[in-house]
Amino acid sequence: MDFDRIVARRGTASFKWDLYGENILPLWVADMDFPSPPPVVEALRRRAEHGVYGYTLVSESFTDALRADVERRHGWRIEPEWLVWLPSVVPGLNLCCRAFAGAGDDVMTVTPVYPPFLEAPPDQQRRLLTVPVRDAGGRWELPFEAMEAALTRRTRVLLFCHPHNPLGRVWRRDEVAAVVGFCRRHGLVLCSDEIHCDLALDDLAHIPSATVDAAAPELTVTLMSPSKTYNLPGLDFAFAIVPDEGLRARFTAAAAGVLPFPGCFALAAAEVAYREGEPWLAELLAYLRGNRDALEGFVRASLPRVTMTHVEATYLAWLDVRGLRLEDPAAACRRAGVALSDGADFGAPGFLRLNFACPRATLDEALTRLAPVLGG
Ligand SMILES: Cc1ncc(COP(=O)(O)O)c(C=O)c1O
Repeated sequence: MDFDRIVARRGTASFKWDLYGENILPLWVADMDFPSPPPVVEALRRRAEHGVYGYTLVSESFTDALRADVERRHGWRIEPEWLVWLPSVVPGLNLCCRAFAGAGDDVMTVTPVYPPFLEAPPDQQRRLLTVPVRDAGGRWELPFEAMEAALTRRTRVLLFCHPHNPLGRVWRRDEVAAVVGFCRRHGLVLCSDEIHCDLALDDLAHIPSATVDAAAPELTVTLMSPSKTYNLPGLDFAFAIVPDEGLRARFTAAAAGVLPFPGCFALAAAEVAYREGEPWLAELLAYLRGNRDALEGFVRASLPRVTMTHVEATYLAWLDVRGLRLEDPAAACRRAGVALSDGADFGAPGFLRLNFACPRATLDEALTRLAPVLGG
């Protein structure tokens, strides 16, 4: 794969590229500027050429490929009946709020976090409880003491981002075990968003929350998708893994009649990605690692008042620009010709999120543009 190749995306109704003007390099929303693995593109071409796009069955072969992928990558044997199909992960976050908390109950999450974690509880008429992450001197840690202190008698759900967007942390086994223990002690359902689980850049194992101890499956809903791993978010497919029958009944009841069945293109693409995507993914991770290291080096050398914590997983960097005292850092970057995500949307004003899943030349050009604004 030639990840250096620049594929023009402007004018393709790309959310990332066509939202802002012609002169802006978009390093914001979390999709990648790389084509999907060649066997995936070929499978979609074949499916398109068939010409008939009717209602589609989720085949046994598809489910087998998905289960084999989760077992091979993450050591988790899942049963077919645990799977609930979703059009994307965000509805899964909302369904967890709706299914496991009542109107006016509380849903907890740790901030900063991917904005739909903050939006789902109020959108479902639940109360949002946020607990700021702990800054342990350049390393982000889960704030267990503050989480205990923030609990109310009406707290029912913990929305957990694992690996974490935007902090880039791969939570270690002891941390995941502590999250599961916290939920168990307090009777919470753990909604574990593991969409970034295949994107560890360092040599770190992803530990699915539901595997951390024998009873963890009883309280866990895990959300996954091939969309980040293989860059398929425009195909609208994700799934929940809900081993516990009681939780699954509540989850599917909350979804009844509202969610579509998976589409033929998503299924065609995802099955091939699971079966044949591995070599591409290994190359992708090596390329992303190179971009991350280049970015870390640039921040250290050229942006003395900006700090970037080490990105263990994801292709998203979290930049602390509070030291620059800019009134609106994201707007200042756009004026310089680069769109980044505004930390305020993640619950952390004064931060910016930079998506480095692009050809190195695009990243270099963006950094050249950003240097005068963030280098001060
Ligand atoms: C943690 C997390 N969850 C969910 C999503 C979105 O997933 P989907 O497009 O499947 O709703 C993202 C996208 O960036 C994400 O970072």
